[in-house]
Amino acid sequence: MDYILVAVFSYIIGSIPSGLILGRLFWHTDLRAHGSRNIGATNAWRTLGKGAGIAVFIADCIKGQAGVLLGLSLPGTPIAAVIGGLFAIIGHSFSLFLRFHGGKGVATSLGVLTILMGNVTFLVFAIWLIIVYKTRYVSLGSVTAAVLTPILAAAFGYPMEYILFAMLASTLVILRHRENINRLIRGTENKI
Ligand code: G3P
Repeated sequence: MDYILVAVFSYIIGSIPSGLILGRLFWHTDLRAHGSRNIGATNAWRTLGKGAGIAVFIADCIKGQAGVLLGLSLPGTPIAAVIGGLFAIIGHSFSLFLRFHGGKGVATSLGVLTILMGNVTFLVFAIWLIIVYKTRYVSLGSVTAAVLTPILAAAFGYPMEYILFAMLASTLVILRHRENINRLIRGTENKI
């Protein structure tokens, strides 16, 4: 029962469309009508500027962290923390408040990672940053980071639950980037 409650509350927290709310509130802009039409930090940066990008990134990260912390508030195994993190990412990607549409889960996943696997977070973030800086394709950095996360989690010897989480979250992030991957292949992807 406790696990179900963690899943439900984390899903609701993850569902809060931070990018949409911040964009409308402070910039009077609906991100869904601009750029890649995504509600994430990349499109906020692209459409509204650096400040908006950073604000949306932080807000989306916090949703992932909140899900994990909710799980960690239960005594016992790391499973609840993993459930909390995973459902926050699912909520962000298939939001209850957006008719099950949503973002691509990168910042929310990173928020989860910051609490579960600090060294993996540091490494994937550094790799993401280098790729984005060099190519200006955020999606390329995100997909690369998603592929590397479960590999690094296993390499660092994290528990099976964490590795499984990394595999599921990465799969979700990659699936949410299907259109970006197609555009990257065709050479028509949006740059930051
Ligand atoms: O985190 C999302 C990013 O990888 C791609 O965003 O707006 O270029 O589709 P966007």
